[in-house]
Amino acid sequence: MNFNQPQNPKDFPFIRNINPGEANIFVESPGRINLIGEHTDYNHGFVFPTAIDKKIHFEISKNGCKKTCRIFSETYKSWFWFNLSSISKSPESWENHILGVVHEILKIKNIDQGFDCIIKSDLPAGAGISSSAALECGLATGLNELFQLNFSKLEIVNIARAAENNFVGSNCGIMDQFASVMSKKDHFILLDCLTLEAKFIPADLKSCKILLINSMVSHNLAESEYNIRRSECEHALKIIKHKFPEVKTLRDVDMELLESCKKDLSEKEYIRVLYILQENERVLKAAEAMKNGDLKKLGELMNQSHYGLKDLYEVSCKELDFLVKFSENKDFIYGSRMMGGGFGGCTINIIEESHIADFSAEVKIAYQKEFNITPEIITVVPSKGTSIYQN
Ligand code: GLA
Repeated sequence: MNFNQPQNPKDFPFIRNINPGEANIFVESPGRINLIGEHTDYNHGFVFPTAIDKKIHFEISKNGCKKTCRIFSETYKSWFWFNLSSISKSPESWENHILGVVHEILKIKNIDQGFDCIIKSDLPAGAGISSSAALECGLATGLNELFQLNFSKLEIVNIARAAENNFVGSNCGIMDQFASVMSKKDHFILLDCLTLEAKFIPADLKSCKILLINSMVSHNLAESEYNIRRSECEHALKIIKHKFPEVKTLRDVDMELLESCKKDLSEKEYIRVLYILQENERVLKAAEAMKNGDLKKLGELMNQSHYGLKDLYEVSCKELDFLVKFSENKDFIYGSRMMGGGFGGCTINIIEESHIADFSAEVKIAYQKEFNITPEIITVVPSKGTSIYQN
């Protein structure tokens, strides 16, 4: 069979066994949670994420074509194909995460023939647990193995992030891709987004579990407001730098220095930077609390983080605030806050395992009554990052 110029890529059998002797590559790529440290990654601050036990699975193989690649999503029961020499943006958002990764790889290395890829996901999309980073990191890892491209894990993180920034058009920081690739089972990563130094802190949750409550809303201002927050912080930094040229990033700014620039900044810029400085401090304290097994302290910091995100960074929404309020003052919940970029997605909660069933039932009823939406409750476990496995 000659697959080099397929008029219709539907006409040849999908993936398996068209290249006898050529082993298929199996990859699993997880979503992520972030215990604390929101919107700090692109401000060169600290974050405290890890990968979770909910994943996207990939099966990838060479398909015998020169240039044609085909991607099939078992989850969405849809597929598409593209040519390695002419990659352009698709109107379908999920396809761009795939195309973006291939596009970024081709800037650096050659992919010498076509491939097929089957994808299956148990990660809810749009829940703020980074299904897009999982998609990008999983594909990059699979192609790295299949074509022996010799990328390091950090290069894979950078390729995945570049796909998001340059191709998908989302101006995200590095947290999601880093967590998806680098995480270790039962640990959180204290990541310094300035130096990329990562400290792995054991997830000592005692008799507690991590519970995500998916608000099931995803307000469409999320993307634009995210970019506005970035530029507010960048503009604030520029003004601070003008006065204090030794300042390189917001990490060089402390409270005293911020106060001395207060009158030069707009009110919004001031409270954005104030939040970032406070949140960075909270992340470091939270990592300490986790090391000391002090869940009470950790929980307090998470709650403070939520109110910083709500009142100073202004990226929460009424649904998330409701869920956090509902978790507050329950002695079996140590901490609760919105997670991720904001304007929807999940709250993250540290809860005594023995109370999960009753609490879940209760919060479902209350949220349903308030918003007429049934929230999704997801228990997650800190897990290892993207990996190749044998089927
Ligand atoms: C999104 C982005 C991350 C990070 C968070 C907020 O998840 O992809 O880079 O900025 O929002 O902490």
